[in-house]
Amino acid sequence: MHRRPLASLAVVIFVASSASAQAPGKFPPDSLVNTKVIPHKTPVTEVLGIMRNFTSDLGVRCTHCHVGKEGAPIASFDFASDEKRTKQVARQMMLMLAEVNRRVDTLPGRQSPGLMATCATCHRGVNRPVPLYALVGDVAAAAGADSAIRTYHALRDRYYGRDSYDFGEPSLNVAAFRLARAGKFDEALALLKLNEEYFPKSSGLYVFRGNVLLLRADTNAAADAFREAVRRDSTNNEARGRLRAIGRQ
Ligand code: HEC
Ligand code: HEC
Repeated sequence: MHRRPLASLAVVIFVASSASAQAPGKFPPDSLVNTKVIPHKTPVTEVLGIMRNFTSDLGVRCTHCHVGKEGAPIASFDFASDEKRTKQVARQMMLMLAEVNRRVDTLPGRQSPGLMATCATCHRGVNRPVPLYALVGDVAAAAGADSAIRTYHALRDRYYGRDSYDFGEPSLNVAAFRLARAGKFDEALALLKLNEEYFPKSSGLYVFRGNVLLLRADTNAAADAFREAVRRDSTNNEARGRLRAIGRQ
């Protein structure tokens, strides 16, 4: 009879002290509070190394995944909180990556030490690893060519020379072709015109232009485009083949 109240008091004290251990206020923290993938005994400095890799691999800051005010002291951040969806996603990504690397480790004839996949293998410095052609194409389809062109310029200003987006010639050609297949001919032609600013001598670009115009059932304009492709590069057999196919050698 006597022990019951004592036992429940002990439970209350335990809950209260574990709650205060979770409260933010000290950085770096003494120990881990709420890790579900990283083993509990992992040294905090090692965890912070993992976290710094996350920020550079994804091109984000701590607050992308953790509750905290940008510019406020880092000790005020609540790193144990699971409130942000991105943190929950990151946990799944950590498990996925461990699985990937377990499988990679079984490759026959693997070098030692072997190459490992990291967050950057897919993310390449951006938080959603969307290819450039898809990103620009989606903006063009949803908001029109002008918005897509602004998006392209902004991404190029920020990321050119980095791993994040492919600013080579194919990206806008592919975006344009996909738009044309969805019936968005003006947007497609606008993106090809933009691409020509960066690749003014390209022959292949005019094959894409011809293909877009064929999808629009504009055979005369398509023939002009294929002829321009051949004029720019007499060895462009794809363009010659297209001209033959539409009977406009
Ligand atoms: C891409 C998302 C992401 C970013 C960015 C990120 N973290 Fe984390 N962080 C996590 C996840 C997920 C966990 C929990 C891991 C687990 O459950 O094992 C975590 C856990 C932590 C923990 C341990 C919290 C606890 O429960 O004890 C600390 C401390 C931490 N992060 C600090 C940082 C710092 C500092 C930065 C910025 C340099 C940062 N994180 C950036 C996703 C992120
Ligand atoms: C195999 C490729 C791959 C790897 C490796 C990978 N990711 Fe991802 N990640 C993706 C894809 C694809 C998405 C987009 C999912 C979606 O939006 O449907 C994504 C989305 C995310 C998001 C959500 C982005 C948002 O704003 O919606 C976070 C956070 C994230 N990844 C963190 C990580 C972290 C941290 C790692 C390393 C532990 C990692 N990812 C490794 C492919 C990968």
